[in-house]
Amino acid sequence: MIDDHSPDDLTLHQKASLGSGASFWRTKTVAGLPAAVLTDGPHGVRAQVGAEDHLGIAPSAPATCFPPAAGLAQSWDPQLVERVGAALADEARAHGAGVLLGPGVNIKRDPRGGRNFEYYSEDPHLSGVLGAAWVRGLQSHGVGASVKHFAANNAEHDRMRSDSQVDTRALREIYLKSFERVVTESWPWTVMCSYNKINGVYAFENQWLLSEILRGQWGFNGAVVSDWGAVGDRVSAMAAGLDLAMPGGDPALDNAVVAAVEAGKLDEATVDAAARNVLTMLQRIADGAPRAWPVDLDAHHALAREVAGRCIALLKNQDGLLPLDPGRALAVIGSFAEQPRYQGGGSSRVNAARLDIPLEQIRKHARGDVFYAPGFDVDGDANRLRDDAAAIAASADVAVVFLGLTEREESEGFDRSTIDLPEQQLHVLRAVVAVQPRTVVVLSHGGAVRLAEVDRLAQAILDGGLLGQAGGGAIADVLFGTVNPSGRLAETVPVRLEDAPSFLNFPGENSQVLYGESIYVGYRWYDARKIDVTYPFGHGLSYTAFSYGAVHVESDDDNLLVMLPVTNTGDRDGREIIQVYMSKPSSSVRRVPKDLKGFQVIDLTAGATADVTIRITRNDFAYWEERIDGWIVEGGAYTIHVGSSSKDIRCATVVEVNGDKLNLPLTEDSTIGEVMAHPTAGPLFASLAAQTMASMADTLDPALGVDIAQVAASIPLGRIAAFGGGFSRETLDRFLEQVRD
Ligand code: BGC
Repeated sequence: MIDDHSPDDLTLHQKASLGSGASFWRTKTVAGLPAAVLTDGPHGVRAQVGAEDHLGIAPSAPATCFPPAAGLAQSWDPQLVERVGAALADEARAHGAGVLLGPGVNIKRDPRGGRNFEYYSEDPHLSGVLGAAWVRGLQSHGVGASVKHFAANNAEHDRMRSDSQVDTRALREIYLKSFERVVTESWPWTVMCSYNKINGVYAFENQWLLSEILRGQWGFNGAVVSDWGAVGDRVSAMAAGLDLAMPGGDPALDNAVVAAVEAGKLDEATVDAAARNVLTMLQRIADGAPRAWPVDLDAHHALAREVAGRCIALLKNQDGLLPLDPGRALAVIGSFAEQPRYQGGGSSRVNAARLDIPLEQIRKHARGDVFYAPGFDVDGDANRLRDDAAAIAASADVAVVFLGLTEREESEGFDRSTIDLPEQQLHVLRAVVAVQPRTVVVLSHGGAVRLAEVDRLAQAILDGGLLGQAGGGAIADVLFGTVNPSGRLAETVPVRLEDAPSFLNFPGENSQVLYGESIYVGYRWYDARKIDVTYPFGHGLSYTAFSYGAVHVESDDDNLLVMLPVTNTGDRDGREIIQVYMSKPSSSVRRVPKDLKGFQVIDLTAGATADVTIRITRNDFAYWEERIDGWIVEGGAYTIHVGSSSKDIRCATVVEVNGDKLNLPLTEDSTIGEVMAHPTAGPLFASLAAQTMASMADTLDPALGVDIAQVAASIPLGRIAAFGGGFSRETLDRFLEQVRD
């Protein structure tokens, strides 16, 4: 049916109408075309029944609540994420939705970000790979994704006005990078632009972002959808490349588009292009319908549990306290054991179809006594609760203490001001550990929390982030060893909030957010500043151990294959996540000490060895060269580090890479150093300026041994004449002319 429609068959008003919603979740029915339903996303389907809102307030139909991105990312497993995407598509279709609003691939710039639970990582490679997998899975079952929030939307505070002031290199290498991978690898049907401004221009009317980069450079062929309520001016938004303003429902906005065309202020071709993109989306939704599978909520719950098990990171396991012996008496403490915190608040909130309670699941595994005490009340303090907790801890063999953040402390719509766990919880932990050193802490939280004290007190720590509806079962599986943990942190745990890269520039002031740390985000910052962290990016232990053999590299066309054997040296089957980081020790531009370029999940039975190959593309070697506004591979030696975390590097090798030609135009503003580094202009300049350099050298005391080349390196060509020695204005012009030729 939609096949028969092109913008040419529609009136100007119909085309303008395609560009805004009819209601909260629905597009309009135009010229007999079926409307599309777009719904939240991303870790479950929030199909609202009755009242509609974008804050997760009004009720929605029951649906499987998979681990939110903060938990899911800890799996580091694109295949698993792809399966989640496919399951979500089936549920979306069952609720009549053709587009599910996710994934969120913004970077966790600051641990206080209120929506960090909805994002994957501080690292763009990990975020991009997992986001692309999610989209692949979803769209393979006939439902479109809406990658969000494009772009540089890294705080909740003042999100509808704030201006993210980011340098181009940080934008390209960090903040746009995850989106670029998702768009160019998985071709999402839609991209959702964010509320905020980027360098002074709102995302929804940012021509550079939506048209030049997204469509022009990345080849995006879907529809650009606004975040809900983001669009101020429909006409300038459409001119910039926005196709669909949501939620819509106000006919005046469509009329404004028509009036702008009639007044010659907006090109009708722009309205046609937007209408065509919305028609493509409608077509894809229609074509996708047969690819959906019937929904089996039991199977989805089982998948949610498998995934949650893979998301749990074992941060510490002193003296092998875990896995627990099921025969030992346990004291389970903390109200999260009874009322789990398993998802975030706001537009992504899912009405979970069912819920595993950790305490019940622990009781199912245990054969000895299981005592329970709430320990603390999330709504207040109580010394009696603390004393009861300590009493059961003292009488048991092991204490398992559930700690975490409540929704009151973190949600869409606001940022946190601290990363501390609530003091009353730490109070209980101290009391428990004082009487029971064999204490395990189980953490539930969306954003990073400070763990320095927990790390000192607890003998073992399990961190699931947020684990979705089956998290309770998964926690029990890992506690008792039915699942051998393999989750890895996707975000650094700093010792103090004050150590964080954006500490002084978050969440900004007067609607201005300066991204002063530039490319030094997450572990890139802590490594560069040599700041100790409590747990590094990529960290996570196992109940078994892995050894890494020697690494070697081979090249395959433009790719580099990083190869090494990995052995499970323990007596349990397990899963290792092998991480490849890269550094460029000597460089002509600023470099982070190392960054993630690839990783591989590998399941190994006890004693087994596997040969692992991780592919790195030539693009992975490139940095964004601001002077030519493009990607450049710098030639020379790169170090390839292979490790089990960003700090636990097990082996490394050096590769020589041929660089791209960097043709920087030489001008009178170029410095002597830049000219001398130029392969042809350098020698020519040296001969022309020999006398000038010699007279400059004469001014230096030879006894000091100072090198004139070093002293003169930062002098711009246009200023040399002042130093005499015959390098006149005419000589300079002649030189620049020759160099241009
Ligand atoms: C959120 C989006 C969400 C939309 C619809 C907005 O407030 O930022 O992530 O998809 O509402 O609920």
